[in-house]
Amino acid sequence: MINLAGSPDIERAAEILRGGGLVAFPTETVYGLGGDAANPVAVRRIFQAKGRPADHPLIVHLKGMEDLEQWAREIPAAARKLAEHFWPGPLTLIFPRDPRVIDEVTGGQDTVGLRVPSHPVARQLLEAFGGGIAGPSANRFGRLSPTSAQHVREELGQAVDLVLEGGVCDVGIESTIIDLSSGKPVLLRPGHIGSADIEAVLGAPVARSGTHTPRAPGTLAAHYAPSLPTMLVPAIDLDRVVREQATSGPVAVLARHLRPRDSRAALWHSAATDAHAYAHDLYALLRFLDRSGCRTIVVESPPERPEWEAVRDRLLRAAAGSGGGSVDARTPPEADDGT
Ligand code: TXA
Ligand code: MG
Repeated sequence: MINLAGSPDIERAAEILRGGGLVAFPTETVYGLGGDAANPVAVRRIFQAKGRPADHPLIVHLKGMEDLEQWAREIPAAARKLAEHFWPGPLTLIFPRDPRVIDEVTGGQDTVGLRVPSHPVARQLLEAFGGGIAGPSANRFGRLSPTSAQHVREELGQAVDLVLEGGVCDVGIESTIIDLSSGKPVLLRPGHIGSADIEAVLGAPVARSGTHTPRAPGTLAAHYAPSLPTMLVPAIDLDRVVREQATSGPVAVLARHLRPRDSRAALWHSAATDAHAYAHDLYALLRFLDRSGCRTIVVESPPERPEWEAVRDRLLRAAAGSGGGSVDARTPPEADDGT
């Protein structure tokens, strides 16, 4: 366990935030690119560093539930229940925004996304800083989220004033997002905390935000994508697709079983067969395969079971965003702009 309480790094990071600077920090999901959520100049710098369009709203990280009232104008009972149960942890809740929340954070929307992270370094930073920290994932717009400090440095380099070291992120994919601003809970982005976990706490069903709705071509162009064309392929077609792709260049495979002896893959990685373990490694593995010198990445489709929902969502986005496509008819949810 990393303990930086009162350490010079945390103090310096808080000082940078107070001065309107940017600090990349670890969370239990992925690394965030933090700036003072009350400072429009700092928030604009976040968008610049990421190359992200300014109308995409940011999540604000808080040190605890006690700060909710400063950011949310209304706290629906269901939201309070979820917050009490899952915070600190990998859950973002969308609330009607308090009038004090600046437009730069919300992209001009009437709602704000809030989350209390559980990573000890994030918590210490929030305590030392005191205010809300606006923090999208610390990657360039449309690229894979970083799950280590090294990824952040590779991705953003000089654009951040400080990168806080916090090891490899436990969860490995971005937080679950539930919108409660309209009264009934809607899942905007699946994550480590599954719909069933949410439903169990609420005692009510959670609606999906257009999970199976086809989207206009191009709207998925920038989503958690590797640079190489990435294809999502059901296990039964894996061998055939690898064979076909191998005729035009080396193929890297991410599967959940061992390499068959006669496979034509240039590189084969057998990932975890447990959904949470798979998610933990997913972005680091995609980064690794992206740099392997291969021409294409072929990923075995995850199982249809509910515990794989979040991984499936990220892989569909990776395939769609890379232009690789998938041999899989489903599309990811509409509402998450995947940035
Ligand atoms: O795990 C996470 O959530 C990470 C860590 C750093 O906390 N953060 C993260 O932020 O993934 P970002 O900006 O990369 O993704 C946040 C997503 C975006 O798709 C954004 O559109 C959505 O949350 N979002 C933020 N505020 C929203 C709002 N008011 N209404 C709807 N969606 C919102
Ligand atoms: Mg992101």
